[in-house]
Amino acid sequence: MIEIATKRRGRRSRLLNADARSARKSELGQVMTPPGIAKFMASLFSFKRTADVQILDAGAGQGSLSCALIAEWGRVATRKSSLHLTAYEVDPDMLKQLRPALREFVLGQQREGQSIDVDIRPVDFIEAVANPFEYANPGVFSHAILNPPYKKINSHSMHRVWLRDLGIETVNLYSGFVAVALQLLGPGGQLVAIIPRSFCNGPYYRPFRKMLLRNAAIERIHLFESRTKAFQADGVLQENIIIKIVRGGKQGSVVISTSRDDSFQDIECRKVPFEEVVRSDDDDGFIRIPQSEPAGEKYLTFSHNLHDLGLQVSTGPVVDYRLKEYLLDEIEGQAVPLIYACHFVDGRSRWPEGSTKKKTAIQDVPETHRWLYPTGCYVVTRRLSSKEESRRIIAHMVVRGDFPGHEWIGFENHLNVFHTAKNGMEEELARGLCTYLNSTRVDRFFRLFNGHTQVNAMDLRKLPYPSPDQLRQLGRQAAKIKRPAQAQIDSMVEELNEC
Ligand SMILES: C[S@@+](CC[C@H](N)C(=O)[O-])C[C@H]1O[C@@H](n2cnc3c(N)ncnc32)[C@H](O)[C@@H]1O
Repeated sequence: MIEIATKRRGRRSRLLNADARSARKSELGQVMTPPGIAKFMASLFSFKRTADVQILDAGAGQGSLSCALIAEWGRVATRKSSLHLTAYEVDPDMLKQLRPALREFVLGQQREGQSIDVDIRPVDFIEAVANPFEYANPGVFSHAILNPPYKKINSHSMHRVWLRDLGIETVNLYSGFVAVALQLLGPGGQLVAIIPRSFCNGPYYRPFRKMLLRNAAIERIHLFESRTKAFQADGVLQENIIIKIVRGGKQGSVVISTSRDDSFQDIECRKVPFEEVVRSDDDDGFIRIPQSEPAGEKYLTFSHNLHDLGLQVSTGPVVDYRLKEYLLDEIEGQAVPLIYACHFVDGRSRWPEGSTKKKTAIQDVPETHRWLYPTGCYVVTRRLSSKEESRRIIAHMVVRGDFPGHEWIGFENHLNVFHTAKNGMEEELARGLCTYLNSTRVDRFFRLFNGHTQVNAMDLRKLPYPSPDQLRQLGRQAAKIKRPAQAQIDSMVEELNEC
């Protein structure tokens, strides 16, 4: 009996430890870089043969990036060179591995006459740099290598406060780490980081992008073609890129490389003019990553914007949890239809059907009325697509006839809505727009600057559109087919693209 109880206790405590480890892993964004990727990242740095180098590894983990970089330096360094590494790591368990790993590695690397010294700082990187008493030496590093933690920074966290103290406005630790590391580099200092692609577009990362483009030149971007391959052991599904930037560098063309996975066996490189990566007329500084598709494939020849079409696009104004008390299971009294993404089937609204436990109605009262739109013809897209879906933008039409007897409707916040000053638009134009947005060509173009599954209204504002007449023509063509297949949509849009 006693033996069984002891075994059970042992198993329980092992499970509790495993739970605590996994909670810490996610809290600290602990996804280790596989050796192949660490080596590749290190190979992107250049070294002057005789210069002394000052390396920064922020969030050093078990030290794989530091070791790869020291090894790379060792290949070119002369006998009298010196290397100083500063590695920040906040997790005591990680530090237990980092210290011996770096000690052993450095011993194996050091050649006569060379000096390699390592300074491990067991502190929070952002906090330490923000604290003027702890750290007062910006501009000291010549090389920074980073696989920073991925974690949203909430608005009341200390990280937000420390970053603001450093003049950095951003929403995730990964971009915070890159921004701080960039501040610590001296002129001409190089930074190589493996980071999610999400900063390349969207409104939240705009201040980060602008800061990066103001202070550094982008030299290289590497993209993994398979989103699961870069960190497959950790099941990371974020699309990651490796980026090399140079502090205060002169911006020239950008080398874009792709490989299927971290073996880099099939790596392909191209030089792309910077204008193709960040357009000079783009005030939001979207970073596009042109992939090696056959010339022309990735381009849309259209040159109109939503303003030319007399349209706007906004996120659905009804934020359900803020208006909870006004939501109903079904229409009664003063209520009007409330439309969620799940109400769309086969390209059309099937409200109030659809596989949903969501409320399907919202009371039309003074407290809610300003969030409602008059019934009419709209085009909506989901703000979140799933990874399994073949296209990122999935557009649907909403027409007045879908809501007989209702003068007003509510669009829930997980939708983007195309409208005319908060009113509907003509049906032909809407059908053309919907067909256009659902084409493979638009999807390819969209993927140039959007590496994640979110579709923001800002992204949709950035798309080039056909002229109003072209869209109406497309609308008339599409109306002749009951449920156009993808190939039919594509051929209609292709025809238009070639005109
Ligand atoms: C994505 S892991 C990368 C580890 C290592 N650089 C690698 O590439 O294998 C991020 C590391 O940053 C550490 N970390 C998280 N937040 C930190 C902070 N605020 N300051 C310093 N280190 C932090 C984590 O414990 C983790 O080891």
